[in-house]
Amino acid sequence: SLPQNRSQLFRTDASKRKAPPLAFVFDIDGVLIRGPHVLPEAKKALKMLEGDNPFRTTIPYILLTNGGGVGEEERSKSLSHKLGVHIDTSQYLQAHTILKKHAQRFADEPILVLGGKRDVVRRVAESYGYKRVYTTLDVLAWNPSVWPFHQITEAEKASTKTADFEKTPISAVFVFHDPRNWALDVQTVCDLVQSGGIVGGPWVPLEKQTKPVELIFCNPDLLWRSDFPTPRIGQGAFKEAFQAVYKALTGNRYPHVQYGKPTEATYNFAKETLGAIFRERYGASSTPEHLYMVGDNPESDIAGANGARWNSVLVKTGVYDPEQGPPAHAPTRIANDVLEAVEWAIEREF
Ligand code: G3P
Ligand code: MG
Repeated sequence: SLPQNRSQLFRTDASKRKAPPLAFVFDIDGVLIRGPHVLPEAKKALKMLEGDNPFRTTIPYILLTNGGGVGEEERSKSLSHKLGVHIDTSQYLQAHTILKKHAQRFADEPILVLGGKRDVVRRVAESYGYKRVYTTLDVLAWNPSVWPFHQITEAEKASTKTADFEKTPISAVFVFHDPRNWALDVQTVCDLVQSGGIVGGPWVPLEKQTKPVELIFCNPDLLWRSDFPTPRIGQGAFKEAFQAVYKALTGNRYPHVQYGKPTEATYNFAKETLGAIFRERYGASSTPEHLYMVGDNPESDIAGANGARWNSVLVKTGVYDPEQGPPAHAPTRIANDVLEAVEWAIEREF
């Protein structure tokens, strides 16, 4: 069975425990796992933070991924089983967790969510408090001629919600996770942003629209590392594909909000999350002294940590390939893997 839920261990005499001088923020893909495979050093590294270290105490950490597509509870449970340690939901931040902050503003507005499998992301958005959530498969089920080159499958149809999109003005498009049907998704988003929110509505120049559709991306990764021998294109590539089509249609890129590593908003969110863990464990005045980000992607993990003035450790088990020359963003340290990164940081702080 999994180790006891650690947050229960810290409910009593928080102010009596001394906080260690450091805390970790771990990227996931390319650092702890590669596709379905757990990297062997990951389990040893996390075990060290459970107490098997010179500080003889647990060292706090969170996971910060540009991935997502399922609920935080489901993913943290599956990561706990894979990594052999208890990952509390409070320690797990994925690309779209930050969107909880917008749920109030869009609670009663029709929104479109992109990414993930069928309607899983709809349910994630609803769990955040969004109440009128639609998918591009809902649009295709409503009018198959929206995108005549994809025949909706029975399983996809079963995941849809009925709506008349001529009468459902969409206020915002949230790209939660990596889209599965780029063509349908690019077509639908182009329809929405050119008409001011009505699929099939007349195209109106952006500057003449009374209420332009808000477009929010959660992960800028052009590349990420799965179990394939070379990096895969990510949500950032989908954004470039959409913007290229929109520019060909209108001559401009469409204004949008970007979350995810390396954005400041995401790193502030991560620091707030770690701060709450420190206050719960070590008392109201405790904050993490030295933060160490361990990542595999210089463009996201390292750039974001450097921008947030954290320590950054770049590992060689993911996107970064030393054969390709120096990383675009210089880390505090380059390590072979996550275990070496943790050992170096602990040694440095002890
Ligand atoms: O879709 C996941 C990918 O973009 C990156 O994941 O864990 O390396 O931030 P991660
Ligand atoms: Mg990664």
